[in-house]
Amino acid sequence: MIGDGVAIQVVVNGRERAIAVEPHHTLLDVLRTDLGLTGTKECCLVGECGSCTVLVDDRSVDACLVLAAEMDGTRITTVEGLTVHGQLSPLQQAFLDTSAAQCGFCIPGQLVSAQALLDRVPHPTRAEVEEGLAGNYCRCAGYEQIFEAVLAAAEAAPGGPARAAGPDVGDRSSTPDAEVAPQ
Ligand code: FES
Ligand code: FES
Repeated sequence: MIGDGVAIQVVVNGRERAIAVEPHHTLLDVLRTDLGLTGTKECCLVGECGSCTVLVDDRSVDACLVLAAEMDGTRITTVEGLTVHGQLSPLQQAFLDTSAAQCGFCIPGQLVSAQALLDRVPHPTRAEVEEGLAGNYCRCAGYEQIFEAVLAAAEAAPGGPARAAGPDVGDRSSTPDAEVAPQ
């Protein structure tokens, strides 16, 4: 413990962080409030909507359901960390190209879940895409364009989509946190 906080060391979007977190704060609290990574969205807070999805050691996790204090020693990737050297990843670009975002609120979670799927299954079937994104709700019901974007990203990168463009998840983002506009 540091003061009232629990000391943790994590790698967030390729950047090492040594921080003190409140014992009762979730990973979502810490990402958005302490680290200013507001791309990860806060919605249901009970693990139902997928808006808060991040990768923890490459596994997709609802950030509202885990305590930040449990994250010591992990590698966390948020939607900001999906960029490749400050540029949109092929997956992000595919979402843009298919106009997958309507209000946009669910899109960060959809992107992170899609990335987790493509890392596991580089060339998913339509059914696998639907299953991979089953935990992410889109209130605008833009599922068709979202599925189309994931399939397009997979098709465009024969050797393995999206992540093939970057050397490693730890090097994916060169966007300083301060440049990420809050929403
Ligand atoms: S805010 Fe975490 S699943 Fe809805
Ligand atoms: S684009 Fe609006 S909730 Fe999905």
